[in-house]
Amino acid sequence: MRTVFVFNGPNLSRLGTREPEVYGAETFDDLASLCRQTGRELGLTVDVRQTDDEAELVSWIHEAADGSIPVVLNPAAFTHYSYALRDAIAQRTAPLIEVHLSNPATREEFRHTSVVAAVATGTIAGFGLRSYELALRAIAEGER
Ligand code: DQA
Repeated sequence: MRTVFVFNGPNLSRLGTREPEVYGAETFDDLASLCRQTGRELGLTVDVRQTDDEAELVSWIHEAADGSIPVVLNPAAFTHYSYALRDAIAQRTAPLIEVHLSNPATREEFRHTSVVAAVATGTIAGFGLRSYELALRAIAEGER
């Protein structure tokens, strides 16, 4: 079965208690379950990870590039300023979809910039956990 990585950046482990009015009541475990369930439906093995550490996230992106593994990535706050992450994504050898739970374009000014969008395959934002489901479906359809 084809593997897809779902990588999550800083503070996303705190979903459920973190600003629920912005990010909803679902927890990170709910997010991981939804991704694995969607993967089962689509015939994909989904490997879900979260880190608060930029270096670790960069090393995971290298792992995806070396294995030609598609990625669904919520870079969280790194979205807005991590050139290291942007340069790692530029080396991708398979689709990488940037996702966000909220719609950063409707929020504070600093969230309007994504330094990774230009090297991603595409971006899905504003649909809560469904952003991840839609990204997994886009990857599965691209595989056909
Ligand atoms: C986020 C949006 C980012 O601006 C923020 O820093 C996050 C979460 C989202 O999923 O909506 O941590 O990526």
